[in-house]
Amino acid sequence: MFIPEEVIDEVRASSDIINVVSDYVRLRKQGNNYVGLCPFHSEKTPSFMVSADKQIFRCFGCGEGGNVISFIMKWEKISFPEAVRFLANRAGITISEEEDPVKNARLKELNEAYEINELVKDFYQYILANHPVAGEARNYLKKRGLTEETIDKFQIGFAPPSWDGLLHFLNKKGYAPEKLEKLGVVLARSKGKPGFYDRFRNRVMFPIWDIRGKVVGFGGRVLDDGVPKYLNSPETILFNKSHLLYGINKAAESIRREDQAIIVEGYLDVITCHQAGISNVVASLGTAFTREQGKLLLRYSQSVIMAYDADAAGVHATMRGWQLLDDLGCRVRVVSIPDGKDPDEFIRTHGADEFLQVVRQGAQTLSEFNTDRALEKYDMATLEGKFKIASEVIPSITNISNEIEKNEAIMRLAQRLHLSPEAVRAEVEKKPRTARNTWSKRDKITDARNNNDNRVLGQIASGDEDARSKAEESLLVLMLNDSNIFLKVKEEIGVHFSLRQEYLNIVNLLNEIVENELDYQPAVLFDRLQDESATQVLKRLILMEIPRENMNQVIEDCIRTVKEDEIRKKREELLKRMEEADKARDQELRKQLLLEYSKLI
Ligand code: GTP
Ligand code: MN
Repeated sequence: MFIPEEVIDEVRASSDIINVVSDYVRLRKQGNNYVGLCPFHSEKTPSFMVSADKQIFRCFGCGEGGNVISFIMKWEKISFPEAVRFLANRAGITISEEEDPVKNARLKELNEAYEINELVKDFYQYILANHPVAGEARNYLKKRGLTEETIDKFQIGFAPPSWDGLLHFLNKKGYAPEKLEKLGVVLARSKGKPGFYDRFRNRVMFPIWDIRGKVVGFGGRVLDDGVPKYLNSPETILFNKSHLLYGINKAAESIRREDQAIIVEGYLDVITCHQAGISNVVASLGTAFTREQGKLLLRYSQSVIMAYDADAAGVHATMRGWQLLDDLGCRVRVVSIPDGKDPDEFIRTHGADEFLQVVRQGAQTLSEFNTDRALEKYDMATLEGKFKIASEVIPSITNISNEIEKNEAIMRLAQRLHLSPEAVRAEVEKKPRTARNTWSKRDKITDARNNNDNRVLGQIASGDEDARSKAEESLLVLMLNDSNIFLKVKEEIGVHFSLRQEYLNIVNLLNEIVENELDYQPAVLFDRLQDESATQVLKRLILMEIPRENMNQVIEDCIRTVKEDEIRKKREELLKRMEEADKARDQELRKQLLLEYSKLI
């Protein structure tokens, strides 16, 4: 598939990188640039930088970098033309191009899948609202305190008890049952028998949306104590449970506004919270919380409250989710809802205000939460009990990355167990930090690397191989930054200034652009550079800081270093050839070489 270069340029020019990246990463202005937590690796201190001037991003931690198109490719895991299309779409630009049949087929399949899901949702909604078989379901929802408005807002429906209600409906609309099976809404009869039947029967249906509010799957609840209580869509081309958060499309804005997300376990917890006016709430779809879900939340806020059920499974899920979110760089607090209730029940008995009060005042760190759990389990009055409590809580203290918080946790545990803080501290220090901290360790390495001037142009030493390569690097950085510098360097030492092929490839491209086009935009390089290892080099160099003082001096020094090194190399070469001439007793050649050599001194 071919998209003309002018169109790519237009799309890039219409997609401000700050604007686009802000859809995914929280950016903060810092000097001329914007910084945030890198979406491509885990970190707690921001090393992800976006330059508005250059329209380029770069992570000084993981090394990822590029322009707005590269960002979308990397984030959405799509190809270059797909990313261009994506951005064109976002900017309202129409791309007419020769079509790629494979890609078209996939797009068609996706569009049709969304279309079918939309119809399935409509069907269930229609049945719930109008059909006599849904009477019990309507009562059930009323009994659970959902208003008409909420039922409507959450597009709740009902799957009738018949075996083929949905199948019939979609058949009449012209959809082949095989397609419906692929989307998990009907099932094929077991071996030998032809035909299909509805997956969801006699269940209250909750559509599950992606961030844009498109229906990607369903969860269906029984009306009684039947099992399974919930039946969910299987994994399909649209439905990937580990990447979705129930309610995120309705919660995102308020999570961003309040700079805090509340995670709960169930669909109904989300719905009741929203109905009660608490709208920064999402659920993790019954599975263990995943990194992808964490990253999705991080787009909107770093501060997360976990309000899982108080049963054993909920406590376990809380601890795992806590570690994962903490690793991702979130500030996590845990809320235990009184009387072993879930948020839905609690709000229905005590109201939203009281729930918010619990969230605000009862939010605990993981070690506090663990202490409470352990105190319920063991007898504080015996020494053995105290040991057991301590050994259960201490790992979660050992793993706290912030020293102040860690210290506080030690003090608090000591106080609660009537032990001396020194004794607790000694225990904490005995335990090695567990493996989950590899990420924060990596951040430390990153920091060290950064301080070691990964960001700033290196000082230029002189007189050796190292000096040459530093000079080349500096020149390249300066040229990338300013096409006038490129022209100056080109005039003085030509475009073959470097010994590295990657540098030469970049400079050749730069030359082509500067010579042939009116306007040089650093961001364009990423689209046109064909060589992968050169792209890596470009990522590393493109946002390096440039010392503003003595710029001309720096350029002169670099040029001189390169020139001197060239001369040194030529001299060495001549000496070698002279030796050979000596061996061959070729006096004439030797004289000629000596003359050349003397010119170089
Ligand atoms: P209610 O019992 O109606 O209040 O629902 P709930 O949303 O509070 O459910 P619960 O706390 O029991 O479970 C939390 C979440 O886990 C649910 O929203 C579902 O996503 C999921 N879940 C619960 N039970 C099942 C089940 O039997 N099968 C599957 N696949 N998921 C379940
Ligand atoms: Mn519940």
